[in-house]
Amino acid sequence: MKNYKIAVIAGDGIGPEVIGEGVRVLEHVAKLDGGFKFEFTHFPWGCDYYLQTGKMMPDDAIETLKQYDAIYLGAVGTPGVPDHISLWDLLLKIRHEFDQYVNLRPVKLLKGAPCPLKDATCEDIDMIVVRENSEGEYAGAGDWLYRGQENEIVLQTGVFSRKGTERIIRYAFELARKEKKTLTSISKGNALNYSMVFWDSVFAEVAKEYPDVKTASYLVDAASMFFVKDPKRFEVVVTSNLFGDIITDLGAAIAGGMGLAAGANINPERKFPSMFEPIHGSAPDIAGKGIANPLASIWSASQMLDFFGHEDWGAKLIDAIEQLMVEGKTLTCDLGGNASTREVGDAIIEILK
Ligand code: NAD
Ligand code: IPM
Ligand code: MN
Repeated sequence: MKNYKIAVIAGDGIGPEVIGEGVRVLEHVAKLDGGFKFEFTHFPWGCDYYLQTGKMMPDDAIETLKQYDAIYLGAVGTPGVPDHISLWDLLLKIRHEFDQYVNLRPVKLLKGAPCPLKDATCEDIDMIVVRENSEGEYAGAGDWLYRGQENEIVLQTGVFSRKGTERIIRYAFELARKEKKTLTSISKGNALNYSMVFWDSVFAEVAKEYPDVKTASYLVDAASMFFVKDPKRFEVVVTSNLFGDIITDLGAAIAGGMGLAAGANINPERKFPSMFEPIHGSAPDIAGKGIANPLASIWSASQMLDFFGHEDWGAKLIDAIEQLMVEGKTLTCDLGGNASTREVGDAIIEILK
């Protein structure tokens, strides 16, 4: 029987609350299937660990994680620990070290999910954002000169390599071809006169190899407007690290909220483990109350099942989330209910039975 070894980094704030439900759901799926199982190993890394040890994770963490089939992550960040330290020493480090250069973020309005857009239907909001996840604006390149002086200068350099740009665009074209969908590139060549002009030229170049894929190209400001005014224009979307970060929170807002937004950090070559996580943060405002929505984590568990080739189970999880929301009886407060995180996990397990 296939045994999937999963490293669980529940992290901070609502991370442990929501990931706990995802783990229970995955265990239940394995039991129902009977053909595979999960072996979860929990790592207590994150901001508490940092406050005790001065490190977000131990020095050999990357070596340790290499032995796993996947990583299941909750959220990172606690007030009192600088965000650029907590995130760079854990989440971003894992994405970079494991070359998880594809960040797949579905923006899909499921049945029963609340939508703030007047008249928008589930068919209108159904896209997948392919976010570049290894370089670009989040390469971490820069400098801080003359600190505190009058001539202080801060440089944050975007890094767009040919390899990095081409591979993410190619990945998106392959996905669009496979799914017979249109592909939209989101960039900003009018103002970012090096990086985004380059991005656009690589997009045009790679497009020539995929004459069967219908393409569009938008500036990020206009794209943001169309996300709200006319989201049905978008099917597969490819964009840079920063733009992908921002438009997927916008995407979450039009597709049910942060409590429903999932993401997969993929190393397509499978040389390193991939990482599955809700895209939301540690939500300190609601942490510890047991009221966070675990559906984003459960959706990312569905992405993990897809990644392992169990697309049937991946789809069943999405169906279960939809059924839960259509019934509308067991929802957390962000979705207008008063159920606890745990009760939502229980309800999903009940639906799967
Ligand atoms: P956030 O996503 O944590 O919260 C934004 C808002 O959405 C809050 O009002 C929160 O209560 C709500 N929310 C988020 N997830 C929810 C859920 N599952 N159920 C119900 N409501 C939910 O973003 P933020 O407040 O900007 O950041 C908080 C911390 O998290 C910061 O330290 C930040 O750096 C970090 N962060 C981490 C990740 C990650 O680990 N992947 C992602 C984003 C932010
Ligand atoms: C996300 C998060 C991270 C990102 C932060 C916490 C570094 O916002 O996964 O969307 O920007 O990638
Ligand atoms: Mn984000």
